[in-house]
Amino acid sequence: MQQVNLGIIGGGTVGSGVFHALQRNGGLLASRIGVKVAVRKVAVKAFDEPRPYPIPQNLLTTDWQSVVNDPQVDVIAELAGGTTIARTMILTALKLGKPVVTANKALLSAHGEELFEAAQNHGTNLYYEASVCGGIPIIKSLREGFVGNRITALYGIVNGTCNYILTRMKQEGADFSAVLADAQKQGYAETPPDLDIDGWDSQHKIGILASLAHGFWVNPKRIHVEGIRNLTALDIQFAEKMGYTIKLLGIVKKAEKSARVQVSVYPALIPNAHVLSSVSGVFNACFVRGDVVGDTLFYGRGAGKDATASAVLSDLADAALDLKGGTKRRVPPFVPHDREGAVMPMDEVVSRYFVRLMVVDKPGVFAKIAAILAKAKIGISSINQPEGHEGETVPVILMIHDAPNAAMKKALAKIAQLGVVKGEPVMIRVENFE
Ligand code: HSE
Repeated sequence: MQQVNLGIIGGGTVGSGVFHALQRNGGLLASRIGVKVAVRKVAVKAFDEPRPYPIPQNLLTTDWQSVVNDPQVDVIAELAGGTTIARTMILTALKLGKPVVTANKALLSAHGEELFEAAQNHGTNLYYEASVCGGIPIIKSLREGFVGNRITALYGIVNGTCNYILTRMKQEGADFSAVLADAQKQGYAETPPDLDIDGWDSQHKIGILASLAHGFWVNPKRIHVEGIRNLTALDIQFAEKMGYTIKLLGIVKKAEKSARVQVSVYPALIPNAHVLSSVSGVFNACFVRGDVVGDTLFYGRGAGKDATASAVLSDLADAALDLKGGTKRRVPPFVPHDREGAVMPMDEVVSRYFVRLMVVDKPGVFAKIAAILAKAKIGISSINQPEGHEGETVPVILMIHDAPNAAMKKALAKIAQLGVVKGEPVMIRVENFE
């Protein structure tokens, strides 16, 4: 049987997870693809760093260059993370014509265009299944499974930390900060948590999926991002009473009459009847609509040593098969059907809205609010002052028909200036998946 030798960079959670998965299922993999993937070396930060699975001492080195440059190493798995030295590691391997497998979404988001170009220029491949949604094979599905489709829409719950926090806020009626503190204590959320809760991790992932789905590199700066930090238990409860669940959604949606694509990350109200509303806890899901296939759903663990290892093994199998067959490129990383496309500015994105205002409870308040919206040609689909909130101010919930973001923001700024409106209006978009 043929053999390819693997050099792993990173011996922490993901690196040792991959080593363990290869020990467990390497024989199965070899019997399926006809190539044995043998670990030759593992570059680690320190010999005594903690790892969930042991790696034999004789495979370890602290010198990553000795792994990449080893002529016996055919494939590199970059599982170290970070966006500086990891870039150098990958570029060094690609320049040697060695295929690279990575789980590094932050690096791909920041330098993906350069890295894919380097792979192409040096006649090799960069594989990145583990970079988005952990164990869910969403990259392979978009790249190969849906190669005969235009992806008209993709909605992703791509951050397990945020989904865990929102699930608990809904179930327990608890505030964001209390759930976050507990999630950190239990190891479900990082400290500091900003990368996850402010939406940046989702931005990295949704940019990678958007680029793959639409064939042009999406600059992360063009992705509108809002996190979950400002969501309150009150709004989650109001949404629930109206039949909605709030999720942090990554959205990639093709405009109907142009090549432009909405690429954004924000919390959204999802109807409880929609399958994504029941994706709970740390789980991830991607809802993908293709023009031929229709609606499809992918669900699974988006992080963790074993789920991520599963994705890395899938890439290693592809890399091994490509080396075995001498294949330089099967399906390119970007399926270039919308090369002319561009990211739609958020101001132009049209959606429905949930709005909560805190208002003084006196006659004429609704009329003043309605007049501002009417002047802006923004339609109200329902307005409600829920009982049981008597006080100096009371909540008013408005559900708003489709309106462009810029118009909505402008109208809300005017509403905020009304003397009867106290505090900042809360605006959360509503996604109906139409
Ligand atoms: N921190 C991420 C999450 C996993 O919570 O989903 C790694 O991208």
